[in-house]
Amino acid sequence: MAANEERSVGIVMNGVTGRMGYRQHLVRSILAIREQGGLRLPDGTVLRPEPILVGRNESKLATIAKEHGLDRWTTDLDEALKLPGAEIYFDAQVTSRRVEGVKKAVAAGLHVYTEKPTAEDTETALELARIAKAAGVKVGVVQDKLFLPGLLKLKRLVDGGFFGRILSVRGEFGYWVFEGDWQEAQRPSWNYRAEDGGGIIIDMFCHWRYVLEEIFGPVRSVQALAATHIPERVGEDGKPYACTADDAAYGIFELDGGIVAQVNSSWTTRVFRDELVEFQVDGTEGSAVAGLRRCRVQHRSTTPKPVWNPDLPATEDFRSQWQEVPDNADFDNGFKTQWEMFLRHVAADEPFPWDFLAGARGVQLAELGLQSAREGRRIAIPELTL
Ligand SMILES: NC(=O)c1ccc[n+]([C@@H]2O[C@H](COP(=O)([O-])OP(=O)(O)OC[C@H]3O[C@@H](n4cnc5c(N)ncnc54)[C@H](O)[C@@H]3O)[C@@H](O)[C@H]2O)c1
Repeated sequence: MAANEERSVGIVMNGVTGRMGYRQHLVRSILAIREQGGLRLPDGTVLRPEPILVGRNESKLATIAKEHGLDRWTTDLDEALKLPGAEIYFDAQVTSRRVEGVKKAVAAGLHVYTEKPTAEDTETALELARIAKAAGVKVGVVQDKLFLPGLLKLKRLVDGGFFGRILSVRGEFGYWVFEGDWQEAQRPSWNYRAEDGGGIIIDMFCHWRYVLEEIFGPVRSVQALAATHIPERVGEDGKPYACTADDAAYGIFELDGGIVAQVNSSWTTRVFRDELVEFQVDGTEGSAVAGLRRCRVQHRSTTPKPVWNPDLPATEDFRSQWQEVPDNADFDNGFKTQWEMFLRHVAADEPFPWDFLAGARGVQLAELGLQSAREGRRIAIPELTL
């Protein structure tokens, strides 16, 4: 196609009435790409995403469509997958609905991009990878944390050899999710019911797998302790329900090179941190603390020598002894950046490493984390193959 020609790509977007589907994927990614005039491909063609909204609630869909000047929406997924110009299926439904939607899309011959986790167990996640491969469609899984400015800066430090030998990683993720009685919960109630695909391990360990592996190295074992600290919450309908899923997970992961990563994930902790997720990395040459946006370092040459003395008040302001890592780049919304990569993968055959096997690896860490918690033991992580 000649330079500056436009080509449209129909994207069937399922689950756009949800938190992630609406805010991060529709508004901050697809509509943002449209607003910037589309996506330029290497041959000069401009790709214009055309969303086709799919969901269960007709009036919610109609409202979103109207608000954003969109005219294609339906409550019938089968119909949407057959619409002319529909090339990509995107799924941000509740996790338990994912497999059915993705299978239908693959059978219809569409390329598929999906939220994580791709399935609730590893075998099913692998099955999705196999059927997608057999059908010859292109697939991708959201791995948004890789595109966080804080973690991009952390990766830059690792790549630049800042740490020397990395010893350990300590991650804190979490915040207080209200119980829904005296203040409305800020997360949907299905997250707290195992039978509806909920639980913090299935939600977060998928992320920890790719974060740990892409920044530090392969994860070789997992040991997790899961807890349901709050046994009862109040749902969207105002009625109490029993919490059957874990709302906090205390995980230890062994990585290649003897690196020990400890990550706490919790919806039952109050934040006394600078950001909702933070990782401290300690290495022989220096340490860093990276969050969503910020990253601070302390080199061995500027490391103070605190002396333990409980009889005296703290004499040093420890936080002031760290240096801010500069951005040195423009960071776009991570969901949008990954969408642009996937669109270029589909339309211009550019590589896209985060396929359904990568998705299955995330599910595997969650599944083995849950098994570790149930059995009270450390579990080695076998290599996954298709
Ligand atoms: N990448 C990330 O950082 C991230 C963050 C949060 C959630 N997620 C993932 O995104 C997906 C959606 O999560 P969310 O927080 O947006 O959830 P949500 O409850 O806000 O949205 C769920 C969507 O699924 C639809 N749905 C279909 N069947 C449903 C059913 N039986 N019950 C309830 N909703 C149903 C809803 O209409 C809605 O559009 C999950 O798979 C979750 O793991 C990813």
